[in-house]
Amino acid sequence: MSGLPARVSVDPAFVVAAVNRRLFGSFVEHMGRCVYTGLYEPGHPRADADGFREDVLELVRELGVTTVRYPGGNFVSGYRWEDGVGPREDRPTRLEPAWRSVETNAFGLGEFMRWVEQAGVEPMIALNLGTRGIQEAMDLLEYANHPCGTALSDLRVAHGAPEPYGIRLWCLGNEMDGPWQLGHRTAEEYGRLAAETARAMRQLDPDLELVACGSSSRDMPTFGAWEATVLEHTYDVVDHISAHAYYQLEGDDHASFLASSADMDRFIEQVVATADHVGARLGSDRRIDISFDEWNVWYLDQWQEQEHTPTDRWEVAPRRSEDTYTLLDAVVVGSLLITLLRHADRVTAASQAQLVNTLSLIRTEPGGPAWRQSTFHPFALTSRHATGTVLDLRVQAPTLQTRRHGEVPVLDAVATHDPDAGRLAVFVVNRHPTETVTLATGLHGLGGATLVEAVVLSGPDPTAANTQQDPDRVVPHEHPHADVVDDELRAELPPASWSMFLLDTSR
Ligand code: AHR
Repeated sequence: MSGLPARVSVDPAFVVAAVNRRLFGSFVEHMGRCVYTGLYEPGHPRADADGFREDVLELVRELGVTTVRYPGGNFVSGYRWEDGVGPREDRPTRLEPAWRSVETNAFGLGEFMRWVEQAGVEPMIALNLGTRGIQEAMDLLEYANHPCGTALSDLRVAHGAPEPYGIRLWCLGNEMDGPWQLGHRTAEEYGRLAAETARAMRQLDPDLELVACGSSSRDMPTFGAWEATVLEHTYDVVDHISAHAYYQLEGDDHASFLASSADMDRFIEQVVATADHVGARLGSDRRIDISFDEWNVWYLDQWQEQEHTPTDRWEVAPRRSEDTYTLLDAVVVGSLLITLLRHADRVTAASQAQLVNTLSLIRTEPGGPAWRQSTFHPFALTSRHATGTVLDLRVQAPTLQTRRHGEVPVLDAVATHDPDAGRLAVFVVNRHPTETVTLATGLHGLGGATLVEAVVLSGPDPTAANTQQDPDRVVPHEHPHADVVDDELRAELPPASWSMFLLDTSR
């Protein structure tokens, strides 16, 4: 044992919150090939009668995705939902300005809801508050959720969906703080529109769960003030405020990249503080939670260079941001999930962005195979094994100085405990790019726990990635140095690695 020493104390008496399954959500946007030739490809050898790729559906179920946000993203701010329902031959083909493509509308709400059923996930629908407003939001709600007997609900029935969809989670627009957003507004303008839309929707159905747009990133010049103003208007009528964050490796600065979750941590804490401050000023006992409904690694610099320049080409489902994720990216994704879980008391929904092809966990080729990106693995393992309650850990670890995020603990960790299943799951990331960490985890109150499984994502080449030719180059391996000795879980964590330890606590 020779690495940097780190100590974690686990005690099942100290609980943050129950694990909220909605933390393992993802996102399907009409962007690039996420929908077309991603999850939907009529004519593909593995397509079902609806045109849904069954190879993709199998991977989605394996991932353990729980909610899926749809249909955007920036796409939604110019979207007319009516274009995507009813007989396909009557659906219009339109220019799609957000991603500069042609939208055929072959896939719309009805297809999404059938796909959702196949995938076994909960839908989260984003409304267009960019080019549209209150009336269209109410119309969509009536079409989707009212049983029958009104013009719009009967239209849904006529479109082949006799049962209401019962969609509970709705996003009031998307990234309305961003100047790139169609219909971008000031916080004051958006706050009023979101509040009025929320009130109108609640008049139709008081039980909906509504998400107001927070900031598109913690770096936005309006961050903080935006949340405060929007919540001043919406505090009584929404349940969540959203947060979005994307991270990338800049140059060879592995340390900063590996510490990305420190930024997400601060982001969450600052939004919670802002929301609670507004609640205090309004004298409210309500609590607004966070929907972290876009998060991932995204090589935005490459996107700016390669795809952001307007051209004359308008194509159906062009390749957009098909980032091929590396081992290092997978470690960062694992660490972002750790952070979301650690804040399970206030982050009550989250969506990794996105599911297929665009910034994706799953990649496909038209007419060809589907495969797991490196980032698929920490997501799938965390979703499968983080059950029960999130525990409040005590972590003593050396710190690491980073250019972008200052001084951060070298260890990022969370544990979940499921007393009914007799399982403790510990997830840890060694953020140090070059040093091993020697981990000692005290298992207070869990005496007699035994190690069931220990896996690690690490390797000599941080740029290793899964590709169509080599789809299993980056997969988790059995942990070479992990054991429980004297009620202590001990392990050597390789540099820049993500690990998961499962312990049997039933005795
Ligand atoms: O997920 C890709 C894009 O990132 C979304 O459309 C937008 O909301 C965000 O800026």
